[in-house]
Amino acid sequence: MKTVLITGTTSGIGKAFAEKFADEGYDLILVARNEQKLKQQQAALQETYHVAVRYIVQDLTQESAAGLIMADIDKWKVTIDVLVNNAGFNECGFFVDTSLDRELEMINMHIRFVTELTKRILVHMKENGYGRILNVGSTGSFIPSPTDAVYSATKAYIMSFSNALCGELGKAGIKVTTLCPGATETEFAAKANIQNTLLFRIAVMKPEKVVGIAYRKMMKGRRLVIPGIYNKLLVLFSKVMPISLTNRITILMMK
Ligand SMILES: NC(=O)c1ccc[n+]([C@@H]2O[C@H](COP(=O)([O-])OP(=O)(O)OC[C@H]3O[C@@H](n4cnc5c(N)ncnc54)[C@H](OP(=O)(O)O)[C@@H]3O)[C@@H](O)[C@H]2O)c1
Repeated sequence: MKTVLITGTTSGIGKAFAEKFADEGYDLILVARNEQKLKQQQAALQETYHVAVRYIVQDLTQESAAGLIMADIDKWKVTIDVLVNNAGFNECGFFVDTSLDRELEMINMHIRFVTELTKRILVHMKENGYGRILNVGSTGSFIPSPTDAVYSATKAYIMSFSNALCGELGKAGIKVTTLCPGATETEFAAKANIQNTLLFRIAVMKPEKVVGIAYRKMMKGRRLVIPGIYNKLLVLFSKVMPISLTNRITILMMK
């Protein structure tokens, strides 16, 4: 039986990943902050899919987070076959107005934590000769986004970091995938107060759809997954348009 560790499973894309991996017969380790939700999720997944589910209550903005998660994995003597670095959040607005504390937490979680946990788990995957790592970026990984400056920069880091690992791992049995969703129907937008923006009123995808595409492609060892034709076109246009134009379009989309 293979084991997957997924961060941010209590809602949205991470929740859909937990369902998908359980349905595929994986044992699961779920990570998030809300213990009550994790406990309920553990019971529901075990009952429905008859797989072993463990959870770790952890705030991933804390510097000690990756070390504490590894301590649990070592204690349980579990081999992690698949790592899904999914947990994330947004802090929207003009940079001069946004909360610096939230942005530093975001940098801690999207960059520091993802880097540390990936390294620690990759070491074991190399010993085992097998592994799949999926890091959740965003279409913002490609687009420096006014009113989302720090978020899009952290997601650009995730994609750059993951692409470089692909180059290092080559044909080894370990594959790294970046998933770059666009607007997806989760709690993410409401938490960042951007649910009424143009971005979240057009071409919003269901998390189950995003995860179905991502799962299939990560298992094939694909480097990059951009789910949905609208998101693919967005990324394509962003590559040929001057930044002055993408800046104007992004501001419009975030209104
Ligand atoms: N939804 C979109 O439109 C969209 C678009 C592009 C990319 N993404 C990316 O997709 C990923 C998943 O987001 P989502 O849309 O599924 O959002 P979501 O519904 O808000 O879910 C976020 C998950 O992350 C967990 N989380 C948040 N802060 C945490 C922290 N400090 N420590 C531990 N866990 C934390 C939450 O659990 P607890 O609150 O229980 O801790 C929750 O399970 C993120 O990386 C996001 O950037 C989303």
